[in-house]
Amino acid sequence: MKIAVTNLKGGVGKTTIAINLAVTLTQRGKSVCIIDTDKNQNSAVEWSMCRGEDRDTIQVFSIETDQIKVKTLNDLEKKFDVLILDGTPQISELASRTIVVSDVILIPISASLFDFRAFEKFLTLLEETDKNRIALGLDGVKSYIVLNKINERANISNEIIRGLEKYDIPILNTKLGNRTAYAETALDGIGVTEGKDKKASDEFNNLVTEIEQILF
Ligand SMILES: Nc1ncnc2c1ncn2[C@@H]1O[C@H](COP(=O)(O)OP(=O)(O)OP(=O)(O)O)[C@@H](O)[C@H]1O
Ligand SMILES: [Mg+2]
Repeated sequence: MKIAVTNLKGGVGKTTIAINLAVTLTQRGKSVCIIDTDKNQNSAVEWSMCRGEDRDTIQVFSIETDQIKVKTLNDLEKKFDVLILDGTPQISELASRTIVVSDVILIPISASLFDFRAFEKFLTLLEETDKNRIALGLDGVKSYIVLNKINERANISNEIIRGLEKYDIPILNTKLGNRTAYAETALDGIGVTEGKDKKASDEFNNLVTEIEQILF
């Protein structure tokens, strides 16, 4: 199973969701690796370098753009249950390659007007990329929106959510709150389900349960 966390917008939580998904699935007994496609920042690689040796090992591979292809990933998939691709902001060539090679994409969006506008551009890329997949004999990619950094009490969050509901892409029920635990745990090379903030841990576990029910 190849799951990409992608969006052309920067700072929406791609890496945060990718590393936490890897941690939680590992805790649940899956063998998981992360593929860091972001050569400029290598955030997932850096996260893994902060990870203590006493923790479950999660391998993170940094990959060149021209290696993001079906064969390379299928070879890696023989060794792991789940490959999680951490996407790159802005570079549409990289994003479209990532979508072509993945079974599923998770699209993090936070409740900002800028994220909403960027999502409309991302949808255009997704439609074009699906044509490439179909040309390769693949089905269209399954995609889901993950609402991230959500403050339920803010009107803007609710307005953006209503706007997103007009598109065909399903929105996962579990919304991730705006919580310092995400940044703090990342600094320690862990995920929120390994940290002390119970609300963050519970919500992320809920998200992973929902993803597992859809995918496995
Ligand atoms: N749910 C959340 N609550 C609070 N902070 C969050 C949450 N999700 C992500 N963040 C913070 O937002 C910032 C951006 O997150 P992250 O690096 O995961 O985004 P990204 O989409 O990978 O960014 P880039 O496009 O630069 O790769 C980080 O400081 C991260 O700790
Ligand atoms: Mg990132």
